Parts: sequence; structure tokens; C-alpha cells
Amino acid sequence: MRHPVVVQGRILTSAGLRQTRFAHDPETGRITAVGDHLVGDTVEDHGGLVVVPGAIDIHVHFRDPGHPHKEDFASGTLSAAYGGVTTVFDMPNTDPATTSLEAYEAKRRDVATKAHVDWGLYGGITAPGERLRRLAAVVPSFKVYLGESTGCVTLEEIGMLPEVFADLREAGFRGLFAVHAEDRHTMAAAALRHHDTPGLPGHDARRPVEAETAAFDALHEALVADEAAHGARPFRVHIAHTSTADLLQRLTGEASDVTFGVTPHHMFLDHSLPLGARGRVNPPLRAPRHADALLDAFLSDRVPVLESDHAPHTVAEKEKEVLDAPSGLPGVETMVPLMMARVARGTLPLATLVAAASTRPAGLMGLNKGRIAPGLDADYAVYDLGAVERVDAARLHSKAGWSPFRGMEAVFPRHVVLRGQAVVTDGVAVGRPGLGQEAVAKGVA
Ligand code: DOR
Ligand code: ZN
Repeated sequence: MRHPVVVQGRILTSAGLRQTRFAHDPETGRITAVGDHLVGDTVEDHGGLVVVPGAIDIHVHFRDPGHPHKEDFASGTLSAAYGGVTTVFDMPNTDPATTSLEAYEAKRRDVATKAHVDWGLYGGITAPGERLRRLAAVVPSFKVYLGESTGCVTLEEIGMLPEVFADLREAGFRGLFAVHAEDRHTMAAAALRHHDTPGLPGHDARRPVEAETAAFDALHEALVADEAAHGARPFRVHIAHTSTADLLQRLTGEASDVTFGVTPHHMFLDHSLPLGARGRVNPPLRAPRHADALLDAFLSDRVPVLESDHAPHTVAEKEKEVLDAPSGLPGVETMVPLMMARVARGTLPLATLVAAASTRPAGLMGLNKGRIAPGLDADYAVYDLGAVERVDAARLHSKAGWSPFRGMEAVFPRHVVLRGQAVVTDGVAVGRPGLGQEAVAKGVA
């Protein structure tokens, strides 16, 4: 038997951030103990650097299969690793879309050999029925689009939600049901009024604030009716990428069993910036007051989940006019580093970041990850909070080759470890495709 490795540093555990140690077993890849006096043959000493659980990004679009020139599973997961993200969940709008068991299983087999970090895949939903029930019996998570977006796997009609819920119950689905909340009817009406309004404000006007709240309200109504008719839901509902102060207020206002995520771009960017088509994303960048409200909520621990919505398109595709360019921007590699810069500047508590980037996403997906505690996977990242730098797109690893966060402060991880195995050492990737494994839920709902 190989001996446990002992890690020493300023480690964030349930006791807070303090100089301590933990041990992990190279055979199982799991943390075996946490304590100040652990000893071992191998001591990995990080001195005063900060050691946190690896992040779990539950929202990435890696374009594989379908558009590998934008990203493939190897480049996407490598980019994740460089950003301290040790687990990703990939969205269903690949080509083919994972809306059938066959497409889902084919994608699973294909990406398994490419992943640098642990991964899971979403199923997509276009309509209720036999195809959905077969898929629901195996997938850990679903994403449902209530309005059109890139590579559409949109639910045909929002009125189908009751039947969709019935199918998920029947199939025994106990995972995460993530929702892209933009209402297609509100958007269709706004698009008529603003069809030629230029720039990012135009994109915002065509997919307005009210589209987000209207979609949520319709979903909420369907959830309430479903629960009244059938009792407690066996699956969790999550609102992806909340982009407005209005929806934020609904989600944080009253006790709600619906969780939600916020992206760095909706907190740090807004529609007034000179980003051109690089700032075109769905849901759109909004007026500054929305970004301010979302960032404020994040800093004060009112946002359950940090998610990147990494959705790369090439530089050439983004050189078009806002009206003509595809929506989406890269972000898996900068997600934690941008927030870690806030930690370094003293405006964000480290524990708040880790709860939103690691612990709660692990809970939502039912993973044996997300904290530095005995029995959990030894996924961790080491940061030097003195090493604040500026985002330089040329040093990122997505195939996108650009970043909307260029020039912003960030702290990238010095080391990243996945189930006890080094994937980034001294800022350089040392892992390999295929090291990442499918992240399997513990089966709790
Ligand atoms: O801007 C977006 N891009 N929003 C989405 O919902 C999809 C994504 C993509 O896949 O490009
Ligand atoms: Zn997305």
C-alpha cells in the first residue's frame, strides 16, 4: 500500500481558513483525515498559500460533438483545470443534442477518453414522451430551455411542463433540473419592436428583463401546480444564469426550494461596455444596475451557485455585428480566478466563494466532493493571494482565444489536484486526457 500524502498550508475546512494539514490516499484518491498533527512520508508543503476544494462548474458548453473548432472536450476540460475547476457538467446543446438516450450514451463514450477533469453530462428536453422517459432514467441532470438560444434544444411549448414533470417522476429522475429562463413569447414581441436596435443594448432589448421574469413565473406556476397535485418533487430545480435584479429579488425574496446560479459576466460586465459582439450572450448583459445587484448579492452570500456558462465562439464569429454574431462567451478558466481576486482584495470572504463554487454545486449534483473533509475526493487547488494579475486571453487555454474579461484582475491557481493526482503544477498542466472520470452522484435527492 502506498502511504498517504500529507498536504500542509492555509487550508479552508469546516473550521474556517487556518494553517493545518490533511491527508489523502493515493490509491482511493480520497481525503482520509484533517488535523494539525498528521504525519506522512510525503508532505506537500504549501506554506502560506491558500488551499481550497476544487471548483465544480455545473454549466459549460464544450461543443463536442458538433463544433470542435470552437472547443472540444479536451480543450474545454484543460481550460477548466487551469482555472481551478476540477469537475464540469456539460450542457446538452451539442450536435447532435443529447435529447435521446442514444445521443447521450454516444457522447458519454466519446468524451470519457478526452477529459482532463471529472465531468457529467446534461440531457436536453424538447417535449414530453417516451424518449424523455428513457433518458430520464439515466441522466444525472437536465437542462430545459424555455426560449430559443444557441443550437436550440428548446422545449416546444412552456405548457408542456406539467407533462415533463410527470415523465420525470415516472422515470424516477432524482437529479438536477436546470432551467434557462427566457420566455419565447416575450422575446418574440420585443424582437419585433427592436429588430434593428444596434449594439448590446439592442440585444438586451430583444431579450428583455421581462422575458426572464415571465419565464420564471410560468415555471413557478407549473411547479406549484405539480406539487399540489403530486406532492414533493423527487428532483431539484435550478435556475441557470440569473441576469436581472428583478429575478434575483424573486429568488431571494421568499423561502424557495429553487436554487439559482449567477455567472461572472452578469456580475462584472454590462451592456454599456464596448465589447461589441463579444458581449453578446443569452441571457444578455443588462444595464449596470443589474450587474451591481448580482455582484452585491454574491459578495453577501445570497447567491447559491457560481457557474460560468462557458460558451465559446471563435474570434472570427465574434468579429461580426452584434445583430449577426452567435451568443455566448468563454469563462470556465476565469470564473474562480476573477472571484479569487476579490478575495485577495478583501471584498469577498473565501468561504463565500467556496460555498458557491464547490460545496453547493457538489450538493446539487450529489457528489462526494466540494469540501476538504475526510471521505471526500481529494480535489483541491492552491492559490497565492499575493499573485493578483490581469486576464490575458493569450494565456488562456480555451480554443476561443479571447476573453470578455481581458485586463480584469484575477488570481489563477498555482496547483490543481484531482482525486489526489496533479493536473496543474506551478501553473503548468501535468495531467492527461482521460484522467478525468465521470462524476457519479451518490444517489441522494
Ligand atoms: O449565450 C448563450 N450561449 N446562451 C445559451 O443559452 C447557449 C450558449 C451557447 O451554447 O452558445
Ligand atoms: Zn448555457
